[in-house]
Amino acid sequence: MSEMNFVARFFVNRSAARRSERRAAWIRQNARVPAGASCLEIGCGVGALAARLVDTLHPAKYVATDLDPRQLEEATRSLSQRYRGPPPPTLELRRADMLRLPFPDASFDVVLAFVALHHASPVHHDFSQVPRALGEADRVLRPGGLFLYSELFHQEAIRKWLTDHGYSISGVQRGWRLESVVATKSATPG
Ligand SMILES: C[S@@+](CC[C@H](N)C(=O)[O-])C[C@H]1O[C@@H](n2cnc3c(N)ncnc32)[C@H](O)[C@@H]1O
Repeated sequence: MSEMNFVARFFVNRSAARRSERRAAWIRQNARVPAGASCLEIGCGVGALAARLVDTLHPAKYVATDLDPRQLEEATRSLSQRYRGPPPPTLELRRADMLRLPFPDASFDVVLAFVALHHASPVHHDFSQVPRALGEADRVLRPGGLFLYSELFHQEAIRKWLTDHGYSISGVQRGWRLESVVATKSATPG
């Protein structure tokens, strides 16, 4: 795992609101998130996407997680400004490591990870820990559930891991460096 330094955090967090608007629009266009879904976000940063999706998709539960307590503090501050008080009860911020998620098997309909998976390894170019993070996301996602992510690194290797584990890939969008993907887990367990 790798936590960001002060400078990286500053640059990642300052444009989070703008990015979350684009991501939420991409999700609405490419993924069918069922009303009343239970959602888990991995590496949520300041929680901008979480708030936008909670406000527009109305999931039954949205658990936004990050490993770094400073990011969660920032998320708490930013959400209390957005909602002028505590966030809606459906939105929970929680500290969690993507390498050992503290949730039961098959407990979410949707798992999201935006520019987060490469943080599984201490060095972003190192793929070695990413399968462990993908394995954890897969474990907590129910059969037939959606895994929505975007990545700067390991794009082909991640897609290969997912198809090898029975996911179907759709909605691939490639930007200058970023690839966004909708991956649907096989409805047949195992
Ligand atoms: C590049 S930021 C992306 C944040 C947010 N998703 C966004 O796009 O604005 C990556 C996030 O992953 C978090 N992170 C790093 N290692 C993690 C781990 N092992 N488990 C969960 N989150 C982690 C970082 O603290 C950071 O908030």
